Amino acid sequence: MGFISDQLIQWHKTSGRHNLPWQNTDNPYLIWLSEIMLQQTQVSTVLTYFEKFIKRFPTIDALANAEEERVLELWSGLGYYARARNLHKTAIEISKNYDGKFPSSFDTLLTFPGIGRSTAGAISAFAFKKKKPILDGNVKRVFTRHFGIMEWAGKLSVEKKLWEIASDNLPKTNKYIQTYTQALMDLGATICKRSQPLV
Ligand code: ADE
Repeated sequence: MGFISDQLIQWHKTSGRHNLPWQNTDNPYLIWLSEIMLQQTQVSTVLTYFEKFIKRFPTIDALANAEEERVLELWSGLGYYARARNLHKTAIEISKNYDGKFPSSFDTLLTFPGIGRSTAGAISAFAFKKKKPILDGNVKRVFTRHFGIMEWAGKLSVEKKLWEIASDNLPKTNKYIQTYTQALMDLGATICKRSQPLV
């Protein structure tokens, strides 16, 4: 069987998603924006919002200089508006305190509003090729099913166990960390679905 990371990386080659607009870039601003939009919204919905957003605000400084109202207008329809307010706040902070350059430190990412451990992990992997685990709803489902965890994943002790699993099963090197991270997300969204999973 081999390691789950090797299997996932292999699977992604033939069956994962390869052409999403926030892939094939190492621009942390685009990756951050996409991860925030994807926190509570499906890829198919995010696509048009993402394109509109980066056209209007192509850089962190452009976003930081906008009025909050303009940002919320562009977010209109995506829901969970705290995401847009936090995005704007963070852009202002990065523009002021980091010279408009998105920080690469994982611990710094965690200090920004709206970025939790999983989102910080995804940004670190996609933008900075760091070996950091992720654990969003889809990934929890992949791990609970693969490792036969029968308890509710929302329970604190189970969540702790899942983070350990996520850390322990990272690929050995960072060479394929982007592929691995995307594969986990893609498997959860397209095959290992909540209801009617494919086999
Ligand atoms: N869900 C969260 N992040 C994602 C990504 N980068 N691609 C697809 N779905 C996601």
